[in-house]
Amino acid sequence: MSLITQIDYGTPASRRSEKLCLTIDGATIEVPEGTSILRAAAIAGVHVPKLCATDSLNAFGSCRLCLVEIEGRPGTPASCTTPVAAGMIVHTQTERLKKLRRGVMELYISDHPLDCLTCAANGDCELQDMAGAVGLRDVRYGYAGANHLADQKDQTNPYFAYDPAKCIVCSRCVRACDEVQGTLALTVAARGFDSRVRTSANEAFFESECVSCGACVQACPTASLIEKSIIDIGQPEHSAVTTCGYCGVGCSFKAEMRGEELVRMMPFKDGQANHGHSCVKGRFAWGYAQHKDRILKPMIREKITDDWREVSWAEAFSHAASALHRIQTKYGRGAIGGITSSRCTNEETFLVQKLVRAAFGNNNVDTCARVCHAPTGYGLKTTFGTSAGTQDFDSVAAADVIVVIGANPTDGHPVFASQMKRRLREGAKLIVIDPRRIDLVRTPHIEAAHHLALLPGTNVALLTAMAHVIVTEGLVNERFVRGRCDLDTYREWRDFVADPARGPEAVEGYTNVPAAEVRAAARLYAKGPNSAVYYGLGVTEHSQGTTAVMAIANLAMATGNIGRPGVGVNPLRGQNNVQGSCDMGSFPHELSGYRHISEDATRALFEAAWNVKLDSEPGLRIPNMLDAACDGRFKGIYIQGEDIAQSDPNTHHVVDGLKAMECVIVHDLFLNETAQYAHVFLPGSTFLEKDGTFTNAERRIQRVRKVMAPRAGLADWEVTLGLAEALGHPMPYEHPSRIMDEIARLTPTFAGVSYEVLDRLGSVQWPCNEKTPAGTPVMHEAGFVRGKGNFVLTEYVPTDERTGPRFPLLLTTGRILSQYNVGAQTRRTQNSAWHHEDRLEIHPHDAEQRGVRDGDWVKLESRAGATALRALVTDRVAPGVVYTTFHHPNTQANVVTSEYSDWATNCPEYKVTAVQVSPSNGPTEWQQQWVKQSENLRHVAHAAK
Ligand code: SF4
Ligand code: SF4
Ligand code: SF4
Ligand code: FES
Repeated sequence: MSLITQIDYGTPASRRSEKLCLTIDGATIEVPEGTSILRAAAIAGVHVPKLCATDSLNAFGSCRLCLVEIEGRPGTPASCTTPVAAGMIVHTQTERLKKLRRGVMELYISDHPLDCLTCAANGDCELQDMAGAVGLRDVRYGYAGANHLADQKDQTNPYFAYDPAKCIVCSRCVRACDEVQGTLALTVAARGFDSRVRTSANEAFFESECVSCGACVQACPTASLIEKSIIDIGQPEHSAVTTCGYCGVGCSFKAEMRGEELVRMMPFKDGQANHGHSCVKGRFAWGYAQHKDRILKPMIREKITDDWREVSWAEAFSHAASALHRIQTKYGRGAIGGITSSRCTNEETFLVQKLVRAAFGNNNVDTCARVCHAPTGYGLKTTFGTSAGTQDFDSVAAADVIVVIGANPTDGHPVFASQMKRRLREGAKLIVIDPRRIDLVRTPHIEAAHHLALLPGTNVALLTAMAHVIVTEGLVNERFVRGRCDLDTYREWRDFVADPARGPEAVEGYTNVPAAEVRAAARLYAKGPNSAVYYGLGVTEHSQGTTAVMAIANLAMATGNIGRPGVGVNPLRGQNNVQGSCDMGSFPHELSGYRHISEDATRALFEAAWNVKLDSEPGLRIPNMLDAACDGRFKGIYIQGEDIAQSDPNTHHVVDGLKAMECVIVHDLFLNETAQYAHVFLPGSTFLEKDGTFTNAERRIQRVRKVMAPRAGLADWEVTLGLAEALGHPMPYEHPSRIMDEIARLTPTFAGVSYEVLDRLGSVQWPCNEKTPAGTPVMHEAGFVRGKGNFVLTEYVPTDERTGPRFPLLLTTGRILSQYNVGAQTRRTQNSAWHHEDRLEIHPHDAEQRGVRDGDWVKLESRAGATALRALVTDRVAPGVVYTTFHHPNTQANVVTSEYSDWATNCPEYKVTAVQVSPSNGPTEWQQQWVKQSENLRHVAHAAK
């Protein structure tokens, strides 16, 4: 492996299609109109010196290093800000230009420390490179300019440092923060030699609005803004392109290494999901891979009260296999099951479901998508025919109206949020439907046209009211509906939503959203002309999650917002491979590609390939497995990369289920909360330690590439193979690419996918087969996958979880930028500097009524249980609504969430829990017990070493 370098073309590519010809240093080249001379030259292989230009940012024209001469034009214009013209003849290397460039460099160097040999950027510094490129040999002004050596470095950010002495005031960082990230946290203060880059309110980076995305660091041509890991370790020597292991955006990174040590995660410019951008998690929060808490040896124990005992892989496999066999002999074939993980690769997920179906001999397999996006799968399949979002991320650039429902993109999907914010700054209109005032509602240069701050649990009523406006005000796209949709279901739906009882005025009383606002938002959405919906778990994690997804699909069909760029229905997937884990057949009723297990022809295909007989009956979902365990009918489980004791609702019930089992096999990086109830622990591997693929929220399949050996000796896919072999069902794959080949053979939507195709194209969006060999960015273009679009009636049924005198407030939950889900990874990084505890957001009015001040401990109690955490008094939440994150196990937010779930998919109703909040002295008894128990577990594990 060598270090992957990418050409910097100096300015962004022109989007225009007309081409023109010009001559640069004697070579004729054809480029799109609107291209800068600097870029055209780079395309022609002529690298004009530059400092303030880089191809991720608009041209700025400040450094004057990229000067060129153009025949017939006076002077020496900057090539970065001068567009090409037909027939132009450009010279980049005349004596006059050389002299001018040297003069410019002399000025820069006279004001720059000359400590290149000890500088962390030595070897990766554009100033150094340019000094060489212009042939600088002397500096006539000496080296004692106003070089700012006394300026204080800013080391406050955990991951990068700012040294003003090395700043050449090129403004690349400021522009990166503005144009790429959209946070506008930086500025250049003062003028001339006194110019300094500063955070906008002149605070330290850590105290500022900076969200640590790293765009400024990446843009900086010197060591002024630089990763601390580069300062500590040195420059990388080899790299591989891989995919972020955190969220469903699926950013591409170059994992840059020195030997076996990861030095830096550098966003990959050709990444088709992120186009070279990143967020703090993927860019910087990779330290967990080396964390001391990693378990690197398999462990077993007879009872959960026993000490863990380290064993060989062979012993762990045979112990697990004999326990599972014993259980099946005693309790029946259906007494065991497995859970796949949306954090694992497609190949690993496919293997786990295959293990359950082929080796366990039942369909008791489920995935953590059960608790997040299962309603998306069901809802979009029913209406459109495919269990996936309709667009690619780039589609947002063509949207005129963007609707964000139950999602918080700047925290949950930050890189896509930056792309969305760019479009909003260009003038697209924004509608936010969320109980909480998320950042997008008002952020630099962006203000939502409408924020419908509905009461948690009323999505369906609100979305149906929007449909009422569209139907009754003549805003339906009749041509689209007539041509593309099932007219019988449309007419039925039209009459249903037209009922005044479903109009904005009728539902205002319980949604808490003024009717006029709903009407205005519905009109804006319907008139687009290109309107796109982006939604998250604030839609799905409800007792009517599936209904809400279908209500969104109805709106898109009625207004014709499907089947072209700029429109669509787009679920923002939480974990990196939620889409993939669902695609791979992780649900108990479906084989890969969403084909029902009861379909004889599909089953026959798999039976022939796997040489087994498959059960035609759907198996148990996660909540059913836990219920069956509590009833004594379910006794063994293999859980790969999932922490159900922390992530699933009603923790007490989950714990009871786990305790009732005879063999719990946890396969994970850390001894997570679930592992407290495990009998076998199989060490997992990080995304850096294995090959495979992830599929992001836009159905994009991307490679995960191994850059270091699995620390525990086996990659996750090899662990599942070991278990399968011990169970007497060997699965002989020599590499994950072979697993993908099998997926492609057995799954029509993946038929054209292979590692060779992914290496060649970078990525593909399924469906990828003989009809669409390069994948499908936008779905349902000519017609819906199911044929005609299917309208579904969306009767609002209030949740059974009601407020009342005992529990008068509604709790809803969400995520924060710096932490990721249950926090297993991010809590083991310096990201905890930003968020080291879960806090309860409460409106000042509700806080005052309860005598609660900001920072006080409060007890949060529901019908299911109680926990305690500190209060954050804020008007981001409306009166009557409280909000918390669930990143820290000691908070135990899921102790209070109810057992109610989506009617179609059992996705838990995390977003609506009736609660009471009262002052408290500190953690509850349950929390204290939990901490003690966890400490015991860790103590025992270490004692066993
Ligand atoms: S890290 Fe990102 S948010 Fe922070 S200043 Fe740099 S570009 Fe702006
Ligand atoms: S910190 Fe770096 S990117 Fe920013 S102005 Fe200074 S040299 Fe340029
Ligand atoms: S946006 Fe998501 S995929 Fe991209 S770097 Fe951040 S966590 Fe990783
Ligand atoms: S690169 Fe063109 S003026 Fe700086």
